[in-house]
Amino acid sequence: MNIIAFSNQKGGTGKTTICVNLAAGLVRLKERVLIIDIDPQANSTVSVGINLKPDDLTIREFILGFARLEDVMVDSYISDLSIVPSSPDLAHIEVEISNKNRNQFYLRKAIENSKDVLKSFDFVFIDCPPSLSLLTINGLCASNYVIIPVLADYLSLQGLANLLETIEYVKKNLNPEIEILGIVPNMLDYRLKITEESLQLLRENFKDKLFKNGIKICSRLRESPSFGKAIFDYAKNSQAAIDFLNLGKELKRRVR
Ligand SMILES: Nc1ncnc2c1ncn2[C@@H]1O[C@H](COP(=O)(O)OP(=O)(O)O)[C@@H](O)[C@H]1O
Ligand SMILES: [Mg+2]
Repeated sequence: MNIIAFSNQKGGTGKTTICVNLAAGLVRLKERVLIIDIDPQANSTVSVGINLKPDDLTIREFILGFARLEDVMVDSYISDLSIVPSSPDLAHIEVEISNKNRNQFYLRKAIENSKDVLKSFDFVFIDCPPSLSLLTINGLCASNYVIIPVLADYLSLQGLANLLETIEYVKKNLNPEIEILGIVPNMLDYRLKITEESLQLLRENFKDKLFKNGIKICSRLRESPSFGKAIFDYAKNSQAAIDFLNLGKELKRRVR
């Protein structure tokens, strides 16, 4: 099972966009994907068109062990793409489990207890919040890979050091299995000089950890969440649709 956390404590680097559209791309490449949304902002939940009712079970109940995976998981409008939805309730969980023992492993335990249901998926994608909070640590402890979306600009590269330290800490102390699957450069705008300069820096520092297929800036991609659609169903001939298929193919080569 490939469990991949999408993580970067900086907001707006494309964690959610890449998690959702890469998942949809992998479905087009014949893979079955489960997204687990662990961001209280619930952006990936909304991006695949899920509208929760007030009593629906969500990720909070799953993490706390109050509900089983089969009770919280919902089908998206894309066949072979399911999601464990999030909601603003999840924000309270940090306080709810703050003084519990081994509270970094709640999500991992919930996932381990769901092995049978997970057998019907090839990939589990965990969309993390934009912080290095206990929720993100839960995401990293539950995963065997992490994908890091970055913007090709100076401040984004600055923030990477903190994230890499956190991943190192998790690997050393909590989850020795975790590996960086790769860094995905996002919102690439080749009209700007800083883009090529930043990519060059990333290449020098991360070598083959840098995905060759980044995602270019694409206005259609920014619009698609408001229609609850992945890029393939909103603008199938857009640059982003091409980019996400290529990224999906590269990801499949990396994990196998
Ligand atoms: N390649 C891209 N081109 C254009 N807009 C993008 C691109 N990637 C992300 N966005 C937009 O940028 C914003 C932040 O992206 P998001 O995926 O929500 O980041 P994060 O989950 O890391 O906070 C969203 O409005 C999203 O639609
Ligand atoms: Mg997000």
